[in-house]
Amino acid sequence: MTQTAPEATLVLVKPDGVRRNLIGEVIGRIERKGYIVTDLKMLTPSRELLTAHYEEHVDKPFFAPLLEFMMSGPVVAIRVEGNRVIEGFRSLAGETNPTIARPGTIRGDLGRDWGSAAVENVVHGSDSTLSAERELGLWFPAE
Ligand code: RTP
Ligand code: MG
Repeated sequence: MTQTAPEATLVLVKPDGVRRNLIGEVIGRIERKGYIVTDLKMLTPSRELLTAHYEEHVDKPFFAPLLEFMMSGPVVAIRVEGNRVIEGFRSLAGETNPTIARPGTIRGDLGRDWGSAAVENVVHGSDSTLSAERELGLWFPAE
């Protein structure tokens, strides 16, 4: 039986997750689900990288606070592989707003509304095949 190449997604542990020492918790959940970490690095992202990463949000009112939040400290960028991992990690992450994200999800269990201008929600996960390919190219450019 032929097997297709595994799907890959970009996961970010955002600055709030790193500050709160939740890197291991996030990676643990990814690994316990059965997905494979195939690349990983820590960096404080530049404005240029984040503007490209969040290009679909440039005109949103939360764009400036979102960039300030994302530049506020190091993030961990993780390449994760597995069958249907894009959809699977979005399910592990839960709803964008941690107040309404279901318990059992990363955002539901670990996040809350701190009252800041940008929603702090511990993780990012690519939302489609196209976004995953684009975002992995930005965060893990070919040498
Ligand atoms: P992400 O891209 O980070 O995985 O999150 P998402 O798909 O669940 O949500 P998205 O709509 O793409 O929003 C990107 C990030 O912007 C921040 N946000 N703040 N203040 C606000 O109303 C607001 N809305 C969104 C969050 O950090 C969100 O994850
Ligand atoms: Mg998004």
